[in-house]
Amino acid sequence: MPHRVRPDRARALRRRLLLAGGLASLAGLAALGGAAPARAARPELLVRFSHVVASGTPKGQMALHFQRLVAERSAGRIRVEVYPDSQLYGDEDELEALKLGAVELLAPSLSKFGQAGLPEFEVFDLPFLFDDLAQVRRVTQGPVGRRLLERLAHQQMVGLGFMDGSFKQMSANRPLRAPADFKGLRLRVQASRVLVAQMRALGAEPVVLPFGETRRALARRVVDGAENPLSNFLTQGLQAVQTDLTLTHHGYLGYAVVSHPRFWTSLSAPNRELLQQALAESLEFGSRLSAELDRQALAQVLQLPHLRVHALSGLERAALQQAAQAVHQSFEQRVGHGLLAEVRLAIAADN
Ligand code: SIN
Repeated sequence: MPHRVRPDRARALRRRLLLAGGLASLAGLAALGGAAPARAARPELLVRFSHVVASGTPKGQMALHFQRLVAERSAGRIRVEVYPDSQLYGDEDELEALKLGAVELLAPSLSKFGQAGLPEFEVFDLPFLFDDLAQVRRVTQGPVGRRLLERLAHQQMVGLGFMDGSFKQMSANRPLRAPADFKGLRLRVQASRVLVAQMRALGAEPVVLPFGETRRALARRVVDGAENPLSNFLTQGLQAVQTDLTLTHHGYLGYAVVSHPRFWTSLSAPNRELLQQALAESLEFGSRLSAELDRQALAQVLQLPHLRVHALSGLERAALQQAAQAVHQSFEQRVGHGLLAEVRLAIAADN
């Protein structure tokens, strides 16, 4: 699997650990000074929530909603600090930061758990598997979802819940209507083996890059295109570095919020209950917002003067689907035959 090696990774992580420690002690210093505003006083409990997307995305808004709920319900005793936009940690080091205790909460996309030793999460990456969010929810909110969250314990994580994302669309500097259009293009993907295989099956060359580096890589033509939900496309300003957006709706991108068992079990029962409840409500809030922001983003991209937006005909979409179909067979074993069968059953079941 293509993977970028980052020789500076350990150094960057140490720097960020210092930064995280520094921020916490600044809060402490402010409290000692006595003149700091009430909200800067040292809280009884600090929860650092790091993620890689913009605050204006559904995930960004979910994290801020959680911050508000916790502040209100704990009357400031518990402070949630939200670090969006890979400010503190990016895709390449956030899981390590969680393990080292430099942050307490993350909300990685489901595609990021495969490289953390949980390949079953890559089932969500299978191209053209889900048609709509109702199908996804039957998986994430049912017994399969519960089991997947429990599986996170195998990699020292506590799975706290899923949040709906949305469907990805392809962008490049040309329309991507047919497999022939993908030939010769270098397309950025997340570090998921399924996504790498999907791009190859479509005829493109996959390039694994952290989310936070995607825009720059597109601007410098290191890569030619990418796949994104519309909210990520817009909030990263990709319309400035891509001329064409094809509404392929070919794959799902969603999230799970995770913590570390060391932190989670250190909480008092009332604090854990408060955080759990606030998070459950915030995930519902984020999931509702996701569908709404996706509709708004579609209206927005259609208005952009320098972006050509292409809708696919049924036949064009079917041809892409057929080209990508082989990925399902090749990854059945990696994600698990039983799991895939259960997911397919949940998809097929009507509410
Ligand atoms: C995210 O929405 O968390 C980022 C997804 C990506 O890396 O493309």
